[in-house]
Amino acid sequence: MITKLPRISTPFTLLALVLALFISTVAAIFEDEAGVIDWHRTQIGLVSDVYVPASGASDYFGMFTESNIFAVLHATNGSIAWRRSFADGGVKSYRVLPLPDGDHVLLAVTRPAGNSVLYRASWVDGSLDWELSTSGQISALDFIGDAILVGETSGDVHIVEHSGMKQFTISNHDATVVAIKSGGIFAEKDETVTISKIDFKGQSLVEAARFEGTFVSVEEDILVLRKADSHIVVKLDENCQPIDSITESDVDSVIFSDRTIVSKSASGTVTVYDRESLGELNHIEIPVATVTVGVETETFTTINFDNELNVINSATNAVVSTFKLTVSAPVLAVSAVGENILVRYSNGIIQLLSGSKLLWERDESVAANPIAGLFIQLPQTAAADIAAGIREEILLDEGSNSNLLLAYIKRVSRHLSDLQALPHYIIRKLQSSYMAVDEVELDRANEFGLHQYFVIVSGRTGRVVALDTFLNGKTVWALDGVDVGAENGKDTTVRLFESSVYIFTKTGAVTVINALTGEIIKMDQILRTDQILFKVIELPSGLYVWASTDELITISDTPAPIETYYSYRVNDHSVWGYTISANPEGKMILTKTWEFNLDHGYIVAETASRPKLDKTVNVGQVLEDRRVLYKYLHANMLSIAATNAEEHRLQVFLLDTVTGRILHAKTHETVDTALDIALAQGEHWLVYTYTASAPTLGEQLTMWDLYESKEPNTRTHADEEYSSFNGLLPAPYVLHKSFFTGLSGTAKLGLTVTKHGITVRDVLLLTRSNQLFGYSKPQLLSPTTTLTEKGKNKTTQVSAKSFYDKAPTLLSKSQKSTVLTHNLPLILLSGNNLLVTGPTALESTALVAAAGNDVYVVRVTPSKPFDVLNTIAFSKQQLIYTVATMLVVVGYLRPQVGKKRANSKWGVE
Ligand SMILES: *[C@@H]1O[C@H](CO)[C@@H](O)[C@H](O)[C@H]1NC(C)=O
Repeated sequence: MITKLPRISTPFTLLALVLALFISTVAAIFEDEAGVIDWHRTQIGLVSDVYVPASGASDYFGMFTESNIFAVLHATNGSIAWRRSFADGGVKSYRVLPLPDGDHVLLAVTRPAGNSVLYRASWVDGSLDWELSTSGQISALDFIGDAILVGETSGDVHIVEHSGMKQFTISNHDATVVAIKSGGIFAEKDETVTISKIDFKGQSLVEAARFEGTFVSVEEDILVLRKADSHIVVKLDENCQPIDSITESDVDSVIFSDRTIVSKSASGTVTVYDRESLGELNHIEIPVATVTVGVETETFTTINFDNELNVINSATNAVVSTFKLTVSAPVLAVSAVGENILVRYSNGIIQLLSGSKLLWERDESVAANPIAGLFIQLPQTAAADIAAGIREEILLDEGSNSNLLLAYIKRVSRHLSDLQALPHYIIRKLQSSYMAVDEVELDRANEFGLHQYFVIVSGRTGRVVALDTFLNGKTVWALDGVDVGAENGKDTTVRLFESSVYIFTKTGAVTVINALTGEIIKMDQILRTDQILFKVIELPSGLYVWASTDELITISDTPAPIETYYSYRVNDHSVWGYTISANPEGKMILTKTWEFNLDHGYIVAETASRPKLDKTVNVGQVLEDRRVLYKYLHANMLSIAATNAEEHRLQVFLLDTVTGRILHAKTHETVDTALDIALAQGEHWLVYTYTASAPTLGEQLTMWDLYESKEPNTRTHADEEYSSFNGLLPAPYVLHKSFFTGLSGTAKLGLTVTKHGITVRDVLLLTRSNQLFGYSKPQLLSPTTTLTEKGKNKTTQVSAKSFYDKAPTLLSKSQKSTVLTHNLPLILLSGNNLLVTGPTALESTALVAAAGNDVYVVRVTPSKPFDVLNTIAFSKQQLIYTVATMLVVVGYLRPQVGKKRANSKWGVE
């Protein structure tokens, strides 16, 4: 009998080869990608003032911002040419002067202590020519010929050569120098403004004129003063003597062009005067929000309260052009930048417009007092589906033989369904070669939960923005006008609950936002006027607000909990423990159970508890001799760092929030309480940083590890179910270790959180110098056993011995990926930083974000990317080529073998 062997046709083999060509990536990230992929969104902050180089044609323009950054942008595309942050050290005041050569800018920054530094830098790249320090507060800058004139609030005027050499200083008799214009020194004292000229030969000041009133502004030959409720516009001759003046009341702003003077009243009406004759040219009664002198000198630009922009001819009152702005938020200011105008909106957006055309737009809201950053996982990743499928198979595997078959069928069908996605994958791969976004990479990022949204709430602007963690921080959605409360959202609470963002103000306004779409789900006022918000509590049934009247208020009508829960409240000096339970009517009752007061003179500096997403996978720490030290696992622990400024002490407590008992406490002496104190709590440990002058001056990091007992293999409770609900627990056995951080200051401490908690934790340090460090927690502190000298006795003891034991500073032993920011020029504002971590669907990988002006997001793999296929060990490409080659070989050999077999059966050789 001859069985006809199925032949694999040549077209099929060819197809397989062609397909293989397109498949170059596997659905797993590579080792060298994990922990490396990061992005940095550079921001400049909310713009305060705009400066344009002296020669109008330049492509650059500068801005000083509320983040204390001087930034120079490309006028063509709005990208940052360079920026310099003065945030570190603070800014009391600043002055900026574009120099007449058109290539340089002069920048004067006064520090909070009152001393100033003057810089001369290049517009193009910010390279510094020179800097000059003065002991006073610089209040005016100008140039005359080659000399630079620097006026100070003390009345001193420094004459500086353009090379940066100070020539001489003259004093103006304690009158504050308010402006220097065309060689005239404008000084103010006791509601009198004097104008003086410099006598260079005699190195003195000669008074030229004197006016009653306070100084507002000066522009060439026009001086604006304020007297009582009126503004006085004075026209001066070459000798600074008044020729003519206009007096106008109710003035809000006065601006000048070459030919006109435009004044806007507080009620929004606009009056235009001829600059030469001071005669009134025009008057517009329709209220406008902002006004600027426009593109050409005979026009000015107004924006009304409906965000309609009008360019108006000053002489004829004719509207030259009109259009509606694309952003609906109120306009703060408009400024002319060359031929274009820059519009600044209250929500942090800036736009450069050329006529009615939008040239570019920047969103600076994420830089404006971010009060919260949240990682939002996108719904149900493919990895989760696969994991569920595999779990099912494993369950069936453990059963009888018939189940085994079922499991096999399940696996085959799973693979078949995976295969169905192949044509789609190939099409996407082909498409992505000419698309901006690599769709295949995006699919993979989605699959492994690496594609998430990072939502930032700006406490300054009330704008909420979602950034795409995969697309380098591109904005996914943005929402304006959210009520974030007073004082830039200082007391506002932001929570994520079931992929909704909840924003609570102290006075009880709640905004609920769908984190995936940015839609407002709900806006509500939940507190009465006699209540303020103490705390937001999350229970399994939902979120609740703890009001100052000790009432618990539900949001979204969540049912009252059935069980009793424990909670606590902290203020500056005390901690109170409460139970939450429902009475028979279903009303929630808060009952105070304990109170903990700090010693006199101490104030709470920082509190921490274990992150909500942190999980425990094992209850013990395995020692070198395979014995186990049991972790002190306690779900209700609160760490408190309290400082006493007078006695220079830091106290750290670990409280049991069920009973109010102190589980452990430690006092540190000679601590500088004015510097940063950072605190973070993990599974069974806590870590904190502080600066002390003993034993040596420097910042120290202290770590506590808590265990049930000093003895390995010993649990304090015979039954494993122990809890502080039934009786007092024995105190934990605590291991301590301290290091010098070698840093100038740690602003924030954090720890990485992974999906299942199998991966070791990294302790994250966000430093004052805007760098992010990650240290593996076990390398900082983990117990080991050591044999004592007694040899045979084999007494073992536990010691805090670690990799770092011989290295007293953290940085002295470097390891892989310790510096997560790779020395990027990150700008973060001290005191306003966020350090956030979020898990991904890959157990090895977590996302870490640092924000607070710039936003930086990086993937970290504390235990190395153990669940990631690496290219050397597994190459899907090679596998496919091998299979394809085999197919070709089989396709070629099979007919020959068949022929040979048939021949042998037939009996021929
Ligand atoms: C913006 O324009 C400048 C030149 O005008 C160019 O050098 C720069 O690369 C541009 N930036 C971007 C992001 O396109």
